[in-house]
Amino acid sequence: MKSFIRLSLMRISWPRLLGLLVILPLTAHADLNGVHQVLEPAGPQAARIAELWYLTVLICSVVFIAILAAVIYSLWRAPRVNADSPPDLNAFTHDEPKVRHWVIFSVITSTVLLLVLIVASILTDRDLKNLSVVDALHIEVTGHQWWWEVRYDDAGLTKVFTTANEIHVPVGKPVIVTLKADDVIHSFWVPNLTGKADLIPGRTASLRFRADKAGTYRGQCAEFCGHQHAFMAFQVTAHKQQDFENWRNAQLQPAAEPQNSRALHGKQVFMQSPCAMCHTIQGTDAQAVTGPDLTHVASRKALAAGTIKNTPENLAKWISNPQGIKPGTNMPPTALPKEDLQSLVAYLGGLK
Ligand code: CUA
Repeated sequence: MKSFIRLSLMRISWPRLLGLLVILPLTAHADLNGVHQVLEPAGPQAARIAELWYLTVLICSVVFIAILAAVIYSLWRAPRVNADSPPDLNAFTHDEPKVRHWVIFSVITSTVLLLVLIVASILTDRDLKNLSVVDALHIEVTGHQWWWEVRYDDAGLTKVFTTANEIHVPVGKPVIVTLKADDVIHSFWVPNLTGKADLIPGRTASLRFRADKAGTYRGQCAEFCGHQHAFMAFQVTAHKQQDFENWRNAQLQPAAEPQNSRALHGKQVFMQSPCAMCHTIQGTDAQAVTGPDLTHVASRKALAAGTIKNTPENLAKWISNPQGIKPGTNMPPTALPKEDLQSLVAYLGGLK
């Protein structure tokens, strides 16, 4: 056993391990869904949350070091004894004013520090809720097991459309997200932008945020909602105003018509297969709302709520065996002859 421990210790490069422990939480974790990092704020609210975190870490570190120092000091000062030493009953018979002072000082300091943390937490929460929403963009997000329905609302009804799992916003403009749930409780969380908010069936909640830095930020469902909770991701992409307008105008268009005979056949396959019973493709007869809107599915980076990259191969795998990629998903497998599957993928791949 001893030699095993010694061997294990020798194999670890300590500077490297320490470096990893320090650096890992501070480096951005980015995947196909974008950056996911609480300590890299891209908006005013995430910046306030990061400040609260640094304050908490600072206070807790100081207290931790002080306690360790006190423990080491008391061990060092403790009288040296052995099994034959008589019990030390001094404390029962003699007053120890010095010790009493230290206990009172520690209780007061702990109370004050806890109060500082509570007040800082309340102020942060207030700042999150007080973000100005003048001229805000309105988005309605509905949580489903396990994907996100995203509806862009507009008072004039001229700019209303629905998409899934990928949210686009203009940089510097406030966004109001109305949150609903279709089945169980989910939680909307984009750490680079703001804190979490729950989506509760039968209730409507809302959250506001503003992205001040362009980029793609990874969002994640933050409330355990069943088997594929971990694969309920989404993206928020913040663009320059003009790029956002271009994206929105493209999303408002009906689906692109098939450009070749293979894609045309794919469209027929879609309309005659179970696909059309769950999905909408604007401009066609497919108008079901059980699954994600596919009008512009090819413009999305990922499939199955951020689970896999949106490539023709992955799309074919997803259609023929979704349970193999995301066990428990409500999407049933669709058995198609190879030709039909390829045509279907070609059609969906053209829906930019
Ligand atoms: Cu939805 Cu966890």
